[in-house]
Amino acid sequence: MKLEAPTSLSSTRPLLHGGALPWVGLGVFRVPSGSDGVAVVLAALDQGYRHVDTARLYGNEVEVGEAVRASGLARDEVFVTSKVWNDDHGYDPTMRAVEGSFARLDVGPIDLMLVHWPVLGLRRETWRALERCLADGMVKAIGVSNYMAHHLEEMTVYAHEKPSVNQIEVHPFLQQREARGWCRAEGVVVEAYSPLAKGRRLDHAEVRAVAAELGRTPAQVMLRWGLEREMVVLPKSVSPDRMAENADLFGWSLGEACLERLDALEEGGVTGWDPRQMP
Ligand SMILES: NC(=O)c1ccc[n+]([C@@H]2O[C@H](COP(=O)([O-])OP(=O)(O)OC[C@H]3O[C@@H](n4cnc5c(N)ncnc54)[C@H](OP(=O)(O)O)[C@@H]3O)[C@@H](O)[C@H]2O)c1
Repeated sequence: MKLEAPTSLSSTRPLLHGGALPWVGLGVFRVPSGSDGVAVVLAALDQGYRHVDTARLYGNEVEVGEAVRASGLARDEVFVTSKVWNDDHGYDPTMRAVEGSFARLDVGPIDLMLVHWPVLGLRRETWRALERCLADGMVKAIGVSNYMAHHLEEMTVYAHEKPSVNQIEVHPFLQQREARGWCRAEGVVVEAYSPLAKGRRLDHAEVRAVAAELGRTPAQVMLRWGLEREMVVLPKSVSPDRMAENADLFGWSLGEACLERLDALEEGGVTGWDPRQMP
């Protein structure tokens, strides 16, 4: 099926479990807790962001929920993702973890719940619990994060429900072609985390050259590469100006020649943890 290209922050793409996922989401890892955190998420929602990516690990689910409720938006206008952290794996702990996220977010059913990391030995039971939560309606979709092709292949043995999403680190310097190829073939949406390579590669000569040629910023070039390579992108910023910059991704395109120049930047190194080493 040909995907419709996104035209605004509220453009969505379909998920396997039903529902529609906005192509751009605000990542909130290292967004503070407390009123400052609520203000960051509210600023993004005011600018038109319609997707927030949190996790129990980030310690700001309460703030995300408060901002969603205070935004004045209808609940179904905002897509909220959370994740099951590593010490909550296994059937009963995962059930309790989802209940905890549900209570902290306090926005009704969670739009998407992910397994944060492929914890060895417990993946099957963790997934069984998420399937239960999906059937019970506590979450609307379930997926995984940091799953490489071999973890996804293993799921075909035990999963009754396919993951609707795989959230992995992807940017021009780390393209994860094998995992992305697996997901494309199976209809699993790839979400690119750290799509700006944590802001560390924005001064790369080729990224800057493409940006200058198009009259765009390096951050916009990296994010647009993700969108045109059919990924959802999750840039994080606490700055309203940068949020606006990171959202100005529509009405222009890189085009195939620039996409290929960015494709050529693959280096294979992660900026965070490396699930390729996880058996
Ligand atoms: N599932 C996982 O295991 C996992 C792992 C990592 C991340 N994630 C998700 O992905 C999200 C994004 O990843 P990330 O936070 O690691 O990295 P990122 O979005 O690639 O980069 C964020 C960094 O870049 C800076 N920045 C943002 N916009 C900028 C711009 N336009 N120009 C210059 N600098 C800019 C931010 O600083 P300021 O905030 O000061 O603007 C921050 O230091 C996370 O928040 C989280 O939701 C998931």
